[in-house]
Amino acid sequence: MQALHLVSVLVLTSLPAQDAGSDPRPGDAGLGDRYYPTLGNGGYDARHYDVRLDVEMEDGSVKAGVALRAVALHALSSFNLDLVGLEVDEVRVDGADATFAREGDELVVTPAKALAEGGEFTVEVDYHGVPGVVKDPGVPFVPGVGWMFKDGAIYTLSEPSGTRGWVPCNDHPSDKATWSFAITVAKPYTAAANGILVETTESEDRRTFRFRASDPMASYLTTVNVGKFEVERSEGPDGLPLTHYFPPEYPAKAREAFARTGEMIEFFAERFGPYPFECYGGLVAHFQIGGALETQTLPVYSAGADEDTVAHELAHQWFGNSVSPASWDHLWLNEGFATYATWLWAEHVGGERAYVRRTGRATRMIRQMEMGPPGDTGEVIFSMSVYVRGAYVLHALRELLGDEAFFETLRTWAERYHDGVANTADFVAVAEEASGQELDAFFETWVYGEDVPLPEEEPREGD
Ligand code: ARG
Ligand code: ZN
Repeated sequence: MQALHLVSVLVLTSLPAQDAGSDPRPGDAGLGDRYYPTLGNGGYDARHYDVRLDVEMEDGSVKAGVALRAVALHALSSFNLDLVGLEVDEVRVDGADATFAREGDELVVTPAKALAEGGEFTVEVDYHGVPGVVKDPGVPFVPGVGWMFKDGAIYTLSEPSGTRGWVPCNDHPSDKATWSFAITVAKPYTAAANGILVETTESEDRRTFRFRASDPMASYLTTVNVGKFEVERSEGPDGLPLTHYFPPEYPAKAREAFARTGEMIEFFAERFGPYPFECYGGLVAHFQIGGALETQTLPVYSAGADEDTVAHELAHQWFGNSVSPASWDHLWLNEGFATYATWLWAEHVGGERAYVRRTGRATRMIRQMEMGPPGDTGEVIFSMSVYVRGAYVLHALRELLGDEAFFETLRTWAERYHDGVANTADFVAVAEEASGQELDAFFETWVYGEDVPLPEEEPREGD
């Protein structure tokens, strides 16, 4: 019975796939993410986004366009992009006018001619309007995610669902692509986005800043910022280009949080493997934007960000950015790892006592706040648990495996899944391989269990 059932399932699931070559059908409106079922779209694989934004700093409006090169995963009669707000003016597929419709947060594109399975195509969307933040119940500590226009500056912190508020895209981390940006704005504003500034051109009163991010990037890690920044260029280890953008008159004291960036890159590279991207830096907003975000190669920070936050966002370049979560219920693989990395930095700077202070503080927080499992947070995905209990998973793993197998695990993880996506089971497999131990029960308890076997007493070091 069991076996028969299996056979019929196999037949049923393989039939439509065989038909797909000849029989076009619409791409799915979502990827079935447990917490964000409609984010992302089925039927195609995004390869490259070319984004053009003409920004008006008077009212924060944009005249914009995106050209997305993608590959059809089955024959497509229509397909979706994620988009919230804004006005769509025109859509073209392979240069020919396409019809389009807005259905909730989906832009449904119907090309004049169906697209063949496996074929590459380009969809261009011209649009305009004033982008706004997207409401997201997953992030309790901000009013919304995405594009913020305030006091003469624009910042974008889109994780997890805000990129679709300023550019139509396949807005799910499982579909990484390369990106380029051309941002045009009146002088004397400066624009900053992910990747390398490849060109700046100017007309009489406006300038265009062209950025190219050559490594695959999840949509939530894109960022576009416009303001009157002070730009500091320097070099990190092995000549890595570093660019920092500060608000005008940002105090020297506050800039010190970034002073050890090069040293941090070197330290994390020793622990996790080579820094994964072509450049790095940071951008500081002129107000409290609600924490910071590890946007790829250029994290965005609130005014007053400290060194601990700088270490956290840097560690994300390995954990979250190069290796991205396959879906949002694996967020602890981002936040737990980045938080744990700050404990490693504390240990590097302040010795074992400093490390013990961090684990002790975490122990007390987990107890007092009765933190639930980091692998099962409910829809508030940015819970304290993914950060603190998430980091504690790695601490407990290090205690169990010893330093050699533990750091071997982190390095293998960063190397095997670089530029890709992975989930918790993939991490368990890497840890088992590196240590030769059976670790299912360990991870079941620490990642998915309600109660964790915390040490009875943690030394208090007066934090
Ligand atoms: N990933 C960020 C961190 O480093 C938090 C992002 C929250 N989202 C946002 N749009 N602010 O902890
Ligand atoms: Zn983080």
